[in-house]
Amino acid sequence: MSPTAPTPVAEPAFALTPEIVKDVAASEATATIALIDLSPALAAPADQDPVSREQAEKQVADLLVGSFRETGFAVVTGHQVPCELLDAMAAVSRAFFALPLEEKLRVGFPSPEVIRGYEPVPAPDGSDREINLMESFLINQPSQVRDMAPGSAQERLWRWPSIWPDQPVELQGVFERYYRTMDALGARLLELVALGLDLPRDWFADKFDRHFSNLASNHYPPLDDTAEGQIRNRPHTDHGAMTLLHRPSEPGGLEVHAQGHWWRVGFEPGSLVLNVGDILDRWTNGQLPATPHRVLVPAGAAARQGRQSIALFQQPNPDASVAPAPQLAAAGGRDRVSLEAAGPHISRKELGSATVEALLGRRETSR
Ligand SMILES: [Fe+2]
Repeated sequence: MSPTAPTPVAEPAFALTPEIVKDVAASEATATIALIDLSPALAAPADQDPVSREQAEKQVADLLVGSFRETGFAVVTGHQVPCELLDAMAAVSRAFFALPLEEKLRVGFPSPEVIRGYEPVPAPDGSDREINLMESFLINQPSQVRDMAPGSAQERLWRWPSIWPDQPVELQGVFERYYRTMDALGARLLELVALGLDLPRDWFADKFDRHFSNLASNHYPPLDDTAEGQIRNRPHTDHGAMTLLHRPSEPGGLEVHAQGHWWRVGFEPGSLVLNVGDILDRWTNGQLPATPHRVLVPAGAAARQGRQSIALFQQPNPDASVAPAPQLAAAGGRDRVSLEAAGPHISRKELGSATVEALLGRRETSR
C-alpha cells in the first residue's frame, strides 16, 4: 500500500467535536451562508442552445459546490418547486400539529426503531440528557420497494411503509406530492454536485435507485421568555447524502459551524436550504464537509414564535457503499475512509450503535 493510500476503518472523524456540542449560545454567528439562484440551471428556456445551457449549468454547479466546500450549506432560490406546494405542505403540517396530542399519538412510531409517523416533543426525564424541543411527522418512499427479506430486521429498519393519520384528510396527498417533487429536485441537484466536482453527471444515480429518503415535517412549539439561551435542536451533522430544507418562516436560530466559527443561515422567503450530510461527505472524501449545525432559541419576542422546518433527507440505497469516489479518494485530505454501507450508518446515527447491532448483528454495522 502506498503512503497516501487510505486505511479503511469503520468510523472516520467528523467535524462534530465535543467542544462544538457544548458550545451552546457561546458565540454569535459572524457570517452568512451564500444565497444562490439555481434558475439558470433548472429553468433554462427551451430555445437556449445546448452549449449556452451547459455553460449556465456548470456555472451554477460551481457556485453550489463552492458554497458546500466552504460551509457544507447553501441557501437557494430558483429551485422550481411551486410556491403553492411549499405553502400547502406547511399548512397541512400546521393543521396536523394543532391536533390534540392523543390524536397525534394514534400515528406514533410503531416501535422505537421504526421511524415512521409521529414523534412527540420528548419530555424532560430529570437527567441531563440533551433533548430537542420539537415534534415531527415522518414518511418514507410513497412507492413500496420490496428488496428485503419479509420479516427481516433490514425490512423493519428501511422498508416499513408510511403511516397516515385520518386527519387532516388532505395530508397524505400533499405529503406524497411534496416527497416526489423534492425527490426529483434532489436527483437533479446531485447531478449539479457531480458536475461541480468534475465527476460524471450520473455518478450518484445508481446509488439512489432503491433509496429510502425520509421526509420529516418538524414543529418547534412556541416557548416563553425563560427559554432564551436554550437549544431547540442540538449540534449535529445530518446523516444522509444531502438535506433539502423548507422553512415557511424563520424566527431565527439556525446556525452552522464551519471554518472555526458559527455562520447564520439567512432567510429568504421561498428559498430552500441545502446541506451536505455524512454520506456526501464520505463520497467526496471530505471535500464537501458535513458541517455541524444547531437551532438556538432566538432572543426576545422571537422565542415566543413557533418554528416549522420541513426536511427531505436523501438516504441512498441501504446497501450503497459510502467509500469515496475513486476520482476524489487521493485528493480529499482525509486519510481514512469508511467501508460501511449507507443503511447501517444512517440507522446507527438515528438509533445508536447498540440498538442497530442488536438488530443487524455486529458484522453488518462494522464491515
Ligand atoms: Fe440537521
